[in-house]
Amino acid sequence: MGFTPQTLADRVVIVSGAARGMGAEHARAIVEAGGRVVLGDVDVDGVASVAETLGDSARSVALDVTDPADWQRITDLAEDFGRVGGLVNNAGIFGAGSAVQTSLDEFRQVQAVNVEGSLLGIAAVAPAIRDNGGGSIVNISSVAGLLGIHDHVAYVTSKWAVRGLTRSAALDLGPWAIRVNSVHPGRIVTPFIDGLDSSVLPNQVIREAGVPRDISALVVFLLSEHSRFSTGSEFIADGGRYLGEFRR
Ligand SMILES: NC(=O)c1ccc[n+]([C@@H]2O[C@H](COP(=O)([O-])OP(=O)(O)OC[C@H]3O[C@@H](n4cnc5c(N)ncnc54)[C@H](O)[C@@H]3O)[C@@H](O)[C@H]2O)c1
Repeated sequence: MGFTPQTLADRVVIVSGAARGMGAEHARAIVEAGGRVVLGDVDVDGVASVAETLGDSARSVALDVTDPADWQRITDLAEDFGRVGGLVNNAGIFGAGSAVQTSLDEFRQVQAVNVEGSLLGIAAVAPAIRDNGGGSIVNISSVAGLLGIHDHVAYVTSKWAVRGLTRSAALDLGPWAIRVNSVHPGRIVTPFIDGLDSSVLPNQVIREAGVPRDISALVVFLLSEHSRFSTGSEFIADGGRYLGEFRR
């Protein structure tokens, strides 16, 4: 049951935040598995360049995940492109700051992109997936959605909320034959963590940061029928960060 170029054959998958980092890699992996992708990002030039490297299997469009009209536009584009069968809610922003330092505006901004953006994506794309016979939605949370992290209250709150969103949507969309799961990466080397020292990995038994491919394999699995018996579940790929205390 390995991944073949047929694993996602005839499926169109929408990926948000696909101009760089993990979103761009997920798009590449989906195309390698036989799917087609419609890529959205606020970085319009960046996402167009990624789509260009994927040739006929990809389209791109401007997408601000906080804007319902943008979600409608990307969904329409995907329906014109083929059978819409998947969504990866990948776009996300980071926010540092403690529970007493974070301003309400900063806190809301992080929830708007990471939580509301994912809800809007589901609301726009799920009916298209239903009309095409069902499929799979993958919400990108984080190990920060499983733990508390000192000085990151807005980000941690948003990634926990993505878990609740995932479970609720899995129940709501089950009758439409749509599965919804969350993915919880640990530290992955992308522009997102620029400035963080990837050699400092407290409590992580695998002593290196991950690369985007480590997460793309999981995303392709969850989009495909190989995961047909999983919904509302949390899939962790974090180098063992969530295991518990590790000292060496
Ligand atoms: N890198 C990590 O260590 C790590 C760990 C756990 C979870 N994550 C999560 O994985 C996802 C991808 O992270 P990454 O490391 O590839 O990040 P990244 O910063 O490299 O890429 C994120 C992309 O999202 C886009 N984006 C930001 N706001 C947007 C908006 N409003 N609408 C549309 N697009 C928007 C950015 O332009 C960018 O292209 C995020 O949800 C992040 O929270 C990252």
